[in-house]
Amino acid sequence: MADVSTAVLPLNSGVAIPQVGLGVWQTARGETTQAAVASALRIGYRHIDTARIYGNERDVGIGIQQSGLLRSQVFVTTKLWNDDQGYDSALRAFDASLARLGLEYVDLYLLHWPVAGRRLDSWRALERIHADRRARAIGVSNFLATHLDELLARAQIMPAVNQIEVSPFLQQRETRSSCGRHGIVVEAYSPLTHGQRLGHPAITKIAKRVGRSPAQVLLRWGIQHGMVVLPKSTREARIRENAAIFDFELDADAMTTLDGCEEGLATGWDPRTQP
Ligand SMILES: NC(=O)c1ccc[n+]([C@@H]2O[C@H](COP(=O)([O-])OP(=O)(O)OC[C@H]3O[C@@H](n4cnc5c(N)ncnc54)[C@H](OP(=O)(O)O)[C@@H]3O)[C@@H](O)[C@H]2O)c1
Repeated sequence: MADVSTAVLPLNSGVAIPQVGLGVWQTARGETTQAAVASALRIGYRHIDTARIYGNERDVGIGIQQSGLLRSQVFVTTKLWNDDQGYDSALRAFDASLARLGLEYVDLYLLHWPVAGRRLDSWRALERIHADRRARAIGVSNFLATHLDELLARAQIMPAVNQIEVSPFLQQRETRSSCGRHGIVVEAYSPLTHGQRLGHPAITKIAKRVGRSPAQVLLRWGIQHGMVVLPKSTREARIRENAAIFDFELDADAMTTLDGCEEGLATGWDPRTQP
């Protein structure tokens, strides 16, 4: 049986991505991030999702070092922030991210946001970084189907992933089906609805029926839909709970109920506003 350390999905770059990653947005820099990363890796996570704008790349690097795992055992993602978009500025920003992480390569480098007028130049920089083998895979984040169409018409290298907000309450069906058609893996961010729907009656009812927590039900829904899920927590017990999602299954009834929860809930920013 798969578990958090072995469950992976294949990317179009030939790299395998662990299906659960620890998110560290709003995880305070310093000891808090170092401890969250180190305990996740001890529990069995093999994937950490950070970004330049989270301000904790340095601590992610320290946490990985503290884990004692080999570099090749941990899948590390970081992202290009909006201020750094553009060809030369993206290359410089990537160097700075690598230096803060204390790594020679990342596993995945993402355009954090589809910045109008600059995203295509930024993508060329990511292609260069990939060709130089300093990112094993490259991808995008917050790209809707229209942004993907524009990129795919010009890209030399296909994005390996699209990291978007997905939960039963925001299912992004059009973008997910576009990703599916193009062999792009969807990474679900804020898969726990940023904490906003953990008490929703549909979730608590299923959780009770399967003997799991609401968080585990939400994550399992994402896993069964073939997505990568990126739960964030700074508490060891929750980090452990969010990993324990490979020893049960949601039946067809539960999946249908969850699939029926759509309400357009964007808990963070909403790329529908981005031209
Ligand atoms: N690409 C992007 O634009 C983008 C945007 C947003 C997020 N992300 C990524 O996605 C990750 C996750 O998203 P997120 O941080 O917005 O939200 P999330 O993972 O949906 O929810 C995190 C919230 O849920 C709580 N929580 C975690 N596990 C729990 C559990 N088992 N039971 C009850 N509460 C629990 C956390 O509190 P505690 O920490 O106190 O446990 C926190 O308040 C981010 O860290 C980041 O890596 C990417």
